[in-house]
Amino acid sequence: MKKPWAGRFRMNTAKVVEEFTSSISFDKRLWRYDIEGSIAHASMLGKQGIIKKAEAALIKKGLADIKAEIETGRFVFRQDLEDIHMNIEAALIQRVGPVGGKLHTARSRNDQVSLDLRLYLRDEIRAIMSLIKSLQSSTVKAAEKNIDIIMPGYTHLQRAQPILLSHHLLCYWEMLNRDSERFNECLKRVDVMPLGSGALAGTPFPIDRDYVARLLRFSSVSDNSVDSVSDRDFVIEFISACSILMMHMSRLSEEIILWATSEFGFIELPDDFSTGSSIMPQKKNPDVAELVRGKTGRVFGHLFGTLTMMKGLPLSYNRDLQEDKEAVFDSVDTVKACLGVFNAMLPGIRFNPVSMQKAAEGGFITATDLADYLCSKGIPFRNAHEITGRVVRYCIDKGKSLEGLTLKELMGFSEMIGEDVFKYLSLEASITRRTSYAGTARKMVIERIKAIKRGLNRSV
Ligand code: ARG
Repeated sequence: MKKPWAGRFRMNTAKVVEEFTSSISFDKRLWRYDIEGSIAHASMLGKQGIIKKAEAALIKKGLADIKAEIETGRFVFRQDLEDIHMNIEAALIQRVGPVGGKLHTARSRNDQVSLDLRLYLRDEIRAIMSLIKSLQSSTVKAAEKNIDIIMPGYTHLQRAQPILLSHHLLCYWEMLNRDSERFNECLKRVDVMPLGSGALAGTPFPIDRDYVARLLRFSSVSDNSVDSVSDRDFVIEFISACSILMMHMSRLSEEIILWATSEFGFIELPDDFSTGSSIMPQKKNPDVAELVRGKTGRVFGHLFGTLTMMKGLPLSYNRDLQEDKEAVFDSVDTVKACLGVFNAMLPGIRFNPVSMQKAAEGGFITATDLADYLCSKGIPFRNAHEITGRVVRYCIDKGKSLEGLTLKELMGFSEMIGEDVFKYLSLEASITRRTSYAGTARKMVIERIKAIKRGLNRSV
């Protein structure tokens, strides 16, 4: 088929170039938004008298018919028509005749493609935010259900201090909350209407950009036509928010994988979310979490890919920009798939309070509490730390736990130690005393859950 831009050429495009430059195989995904944008543009052209009202009506009817045709799967996308924009325009002209050629008045594919991508991302960001919300509510539910389970908190993956499992689970609520805020922030930059920038310089036609923005429910219009067609910050910002979200889900995956090992035994994964081995009959593998962790890499890759693609581009539009789309689409698909499968899997995970408690009982995990105790008796913390270190050393040598020491043994390390020391050494006591704001005491965790449910964040 003759190209819409064939006028100045003596030869047809080489087949290999057609194949190489065509984006229809992936940007056909934007069809709905391309049509939506074109309908708004046609309405504006008609309202402004740039084309006749009857012509605008004909164009809009043609576009609506094409929409129906695509929806029913009858539309044939053609590679020789390069991209979604020219595919739909060609179909329009075929349907309504030469008047269809008036649609592209005061418009270029450069502002059109930015519009389509923004409309698409606006929808997808909202969908992602709602998936994040469900995952957040799973973490709160799991925290409430398991409010009293004690586990070792780790630093350096070494047992550090006892904490409540509920406190640990709510970490993921906080991470996801920041993710949600990031997507919402990104949405502000996506929600800007670029159409009317033309190829780069604007247009001499008396267009009404605000009207198009209102029709398409945009909050504002872009302020510089050259910037409008060169800018892909909103894409990079989106993939960056996706990357941070994936990083969080990957950390959660890592903990799920670790906790499901026989060595940890902290959780039992639901059977229907685990996979077996083709050779080892006993295996129950956490493949879902492993794949989420693995897929994180490709989203990071898209972030680097788009950043690198952009860094050397002179203003304004360059064809390099076409490379943004597969990165965006794959980021959207990956993030939604990972959130979806986690939303389904998380409620089925069972926690094992016995092995968590047992793990917390080892490793002299209340040593800091002994140091705090000495401190409360007036000993400077540095000295208290030193004394406690010697107690731990003694326990290691004797094969004893801190709680297993007699008062006499303890008093050998400091005359400030009295009977009340044992109130400091149990796991429960250690947790209950940590009532500083955002601490792991049950009372504080419950307070946080309440605030989360009320949708409040604390300000000072
Ligand atoms: N398919 C192109 C893209 O994704 C659309 C814009 C083409 N513009 C151009 N001047 N060739 O960027």
